[in-house]
Amino acid sequence: MSLDYKYPALKYLKHAAKRRIPHFVWEYLDSATGDEVTQANNRASLQSIKMMPTILRGEISPQTNQTFLGKTYDLPFGVAPVGMSGLIWADAERHLARNAAKTNIPYTLSTVACQTPETIGPLTNGNGWFQLYPPKDLEIRKDMIGRIEGAGFETLVLTLDLPAASRRERQNRGGITQPPVMTARILRQIALRPRWALETAFFGRPEMPFVASYGENLRGLPTTEHIGYLLRTSPDLEYLSWLRDHWKGHLIVKGVLDSTDVARLEHIGADAIWVSNHAGRQFDAAPASIDVLPNIRQATKLPIIFDSGVESGLDILRAIALGADFVMLGRAWHYALGALGPKGPTHLSHILKQDLLANMAQLGIERLSECSKKIWS
Ligand SMILES: Cc1cc2nc3c(=O)[nH]c(=O)nc-3n(C[C@H](O)[C@H](O)[C@H](O)COP(=O)(O)O)c2cc1C
Repeated sequence: MSLDYKYPALKYLKHAAKRRIPHFVWEYLDSATGDEVTQANNRASLQSIKMMPTILRGEISPQTNQTFLGKTYDLPFGVAPVGMSGLIWADAERHLARNAAKTNIPYTLSTVACQTPETIGPLTNGNGWFQLYPPKDLEIRKDMIGRIEGAGFETLVLTLDLPAASRRERQNRGGITQPPVMTARILRQIALRPRWALETAFFGRPEMPFVASYGENLRGLPTTEHIGYLLRTSPDLEYLSWLRDHWKGHLIVKGVLDSTDVARLEHIGADAIWVSNHAGRQFDAAPASIDVLPNIRQATKLPIIFDSGVESGLDILRAIALGADFVMLGRAWHYALGALGPKGPTHLSHILKQDLLANMAQLGIERLSECSKKIWS
């Protein structure tokens, strides 16, 4: 049976991933913080957005390309940064980078990825963005920026929504540490997922080589206290200003929810704003990202990226209709990797594109810029 019939939508990939990756890895990927209310609200709010279909439009040819910060991508979506992708499926960062190059979409490599910028940069064909958890130490900061630039990344994404480690109760109960410590419980979970175990054994224990190169290798810490957390700080405006002065490429600020923050970000010279509540992983009373998007759109003319809870081409259209210029997905790519390994990202790109095209036809629009007219309230 072709993948189109077996996995026509993300929910089927998600079910398959849960059966193919060990429980502790699933809990790392799928969980949020607190009662996971913000995570649920991200989905509920997106699903509540109605758009009006069109009749008597005649033949139409929807176009999915989107220009963002001067570069035209074939699709209006890309890969949000996810730490430790290689834990979810062996060599995930390479699979995501290659798919991004092939399908002409952006891939954001996390500071706490299982591969270095030097390994991934050359694979992205210019579509690589780098996400920075802000290092405290000035010398480390300078060195990291130099390495990121040297590896060919022209866009830096500074994540600001982790002022402190999140509690992530479900993740912690899952028993995951960084790197994973082989307790009897974890070993049992791994034994139940032989394909994952074999692939992971072949590619080697998932670690965080970029941050590890700046510190002693601290083994066995909970994932919310790993070396990536220990190196970083919680930036203020001065920090952001320093980064703006020292990073010559595009600078995107991730984790914006409050429209009153926008003027300061514009003033400092941010090139784009990334609206996100970190998929509900940080603060369980945060508004759904989609609910604040219209206010942020009103507050700025800067390009806007949107994430949190996106699962389909229709969700991407909803976000664009409410003011996003580009849409990113985090977990979705990793459900696809868990389900299908290296074929996952390509298949997910394909079904998201098909869903975009089908729904643009229902709406009677050929260009993504026409989405906003179709909101129904
Ligand atoms: C397992 C996991 C790890 C993540 N790691 C990072 C990270 O290293 N840096 C970062 O800026 N955001 C990180 N995020 C947040 C994503 O970049 C993104 O904001 C979020 O996943 C989008 O929501 P979605 O997963 O519903 O698409 C992570 C998210 C998940 C699920």
